[in-house]
Amino acid sequence: SRVVKLAVIPGDGIGPEVIAEAEKVLDAVTAQSDVTFDKTHFSLGAARFLATGDTLTDEDLDAIRAHDAILLGAVGGVPGDPRLKNANIERGLLLKLRFELDHYVNLRPSKLYPGASGPLAAPGDIDFVVVREGTEGPYVGNGGSIRTGTPHEVANETSVNTAYGVERVVRHAFALAAKRRGKLTLVHKTNVLVHAGGMWQRIVNAVAAEHPEVSVDYLHVDAATIFLVTNPERFDVIVTDNLFGDILTDLAGAVTGGIGLAASGNVNPSGAYPSMFEPVHGSAPDIAGQQKADPTAAILSVALLLDHLGLTAEAARVTAAAESDIVERDATARTTSEIGSAIAERL
Ligand code: NAD
Ligand code: IPM
Ligand code: MN
Repeated sequence: SRVVKLAVIPGDGIGPEVIAEAEKVLDAVTAQSDVTFDKTHFSLGAARFLATGDTLTDEDLDAIRAHDAILLGAVGGVPGDPRLKNANIERGLLLKLRFELDHYVNLRPSKLYPGASGPLAAPGDIDFVVVREGTEGPYVGNGGSIRTGTPHEVANETSVNTAYGVERVVRHAFALAAKRRGKLTLVHKTNVLVHAGGMWQRIVNAVAAEHPEVSVDYLHVDAATIFLVTNPERFDVIVTDNLFGDILTDLAGAVTGGIGLAASGNVNPSGAYPSMFEPVHGSAPDIAGQQKADPTAAILSVALLLDHLGLTAEAARVTAAAESDIVERDATARTTSEIGSAIAERL
């Protein structure tokens, strides 16, 4: 029978709480199938940094790379914690993994599940995927400052966009749109960011010519936030830059019933490197350690992981179990662990 080597990074804050439930569900679904997950747990994040001073060593990275896939909770300490001033967990750990493992497709589906209560009075049928570029843009760390800390400081962050990097993610988004409802929206800010935006638009136009079955439109990112709230039904696949995709997907999570439901995959489609699956949310220091976090996003990230590994039946069962739990949610508060157990029992 098939053995999958899975690296598990619970991380900080609510990360370990939601990952415990994700593993509960993963264990339950694999107990009923002929695939085995051989899991290695990695202690990484702010807690590890505070204990040892390490963020992600070369040994950690090599060990993680030797796995078939990665499941991550959330990393990052309490914003503003002075002890983490030089840690840079987000760049040194999370973004380092995304960049080193070439996770150029940051896949962030948004669906309003029946029963989920979002803030919109008449939300309609929300079902779209944001294909967020994962290895370029303003995230590359190509910046610096001079006269730092003085009134004459100059601080730059340069957005790096390569034709190679944009074309590959755009091609992925078109292929996904062709398998879905055949609609692709480029979101950028071409009216102001003329160089990068112009290249994104030209590449989308060129790839569109190869996909007559996909209809293409364009929105400036500010207008896209309006339509995400007023008419989210209009979206099928959104392809966008790393930073715009980050912002849009927190908004999309809020609109579809809460960030506690939003799952994601950091995917290297070539399979050369392990892909990494994680909730869209962070370590939520405001509710950490209280069993208040919703583990559904982590559990739906397990479904994305299973799907990526070609375990489509197992993925569908996890999604269906989470969906049926969402349908029956009422105002009764449940702990993180109660939600995880309820979903595992529905498998
Ligand atoms: P956050 O996503 O952690 O929290 C935002 C709000 O959403 C908070 O009120 C939180 O309580 C709530 N929330 C988040 N997840 C929830 C869940 N599962 N159930 C219920 N409520 C939930 O964002 P933040 O406060 O901006 O960031 C906190 C830390 O997490 C920072 O250090 C940040 O850098 C880091 N972060 C990490 C990741 C990641 O590891 N992928 C993602 C985002 C933020
Ligand atoms: C996310 C997070 C990360 C991002 C941070 C923590 C680096 O917000 O996964 O959405 O900006 O990509
Ligand atoms: Mn984010």
